[in-house]
Amino acid sequence: MTAQNTLVRPYGKAAIAEAAALIAQGFPVAIPTETVYGLAADATSGDAVARIYEAKGRPSFNPLIVHVADLAAAERIALFDDLARSLAQRFWPGPLTLVLPLREGAGIAPLVTAGLPTIALRVPAHPAMRDLLVATGKPLAAPSANASGRISATCAEHVLATLAGRIPMIVDAGSTQVGLESTIVAITNGMARLLRPGPLVEADIGISLGAGSDRIEAPGQMSSHYAPDKPLRLNVIESEPDEWLIGFGPVKGHASLSEKGDLIEAAARLFDALHEAEAQSLPRIAVAPIPEEGLGQAINDRLKRAAAPR
Ligand code: TXA
Ligand code: MG
Repeated sequence: MTAQNTLVRPYGKAAIAEAAALIAQGFPVAIPTETVYGLAADATSGDAVARIYEAKGRPSFNPLIVHVADLAAAERIALFDDLARSLAQRFWPGPLTLVLPLREGAGIAPLVTAGLPTIALRVPAHPAMRDLLVATGKPLAAPSANASGRISATCAEHVLATLAGRIPMIVDAGSTQVGLESTIVAITNGMARLLRPGPLVEADIGISLGAGSDRIEAPGQMSSHYAPDKPLRLNVIESEPDEWLIGFGPVKGHASLSEKGDLIEAAARLFDALHEAEAQSLPRIAVAPIPEEGLGQAINDRLKRAAAPR
């Protein structure tokens, strides 16, 4: 895609229809929320979410925030307790993201949560993003619309500065109001913890928030990065008899990230494949070599973390 291929369309009915059509085809589109511009894609499609990472050139998979139209849509995706529901009722639509247990069978692509059993959700206030949620009828995964390692975009020009030619379209609705990413609060066992400070502070929220850390949740809980519970060996072409081999391209394996060697498909399948390998009776996991190019870098980053001794 060349720079000229990134369409910049003023926000309105036509732009939203065009953006919704691109999203239905599995492409990410930049669109403002009240905080920053997001790079939105269908959260139920692993390939679409992989294209977000491809466009941002992100060298790692971090779990993404999923945007929904209202609390009812959020409750179809995550499990809300009384505290989560009361925060949602008070602050949605708005710049509050809640991290909650993912509902089984919610249909969210595992790449969105990077394999975690929790999900980050918010109902945005900006009319452009709200219109797009209605037009697509899909939950939309959206990180900030900037290339990896660059600052968040608060206007269409900022998006173009780092993503021109890498995404098909930007919905331009001028500068965002808040300019700072949403406050992220995790709810576990009826307790709220601040994971990322943002526009809503503790005084606004009106409850005391546990110390901020998105590293370790609580004793007995998962760390915020999923890793399989089995030893994992990388760059394997021929597996040992006690290994479940995850193949890629010419390396067949017991399962394959992508038989045709497609990195978008491989990224979309990665966390499913790791969970599947973990569920096997074979005690160890092996993974075929993945080329260190494009999305392959993020896939390898995640695999290296999963293989690191713990
Ligand atoms: O204002 C915002 O929140 C913007 C707009 C576009 O909505 N979005 C945004 O998304 O900042 P992103 O992907 O750049 O930030 C996602 C943050 C990361 O810090 C990630 O670690 C955290 O959310 N996160 C997502 N899912 C999580 C989970 N299950 N557990 C813990 N942290 C999670
Ligand atoms: Mg960001």
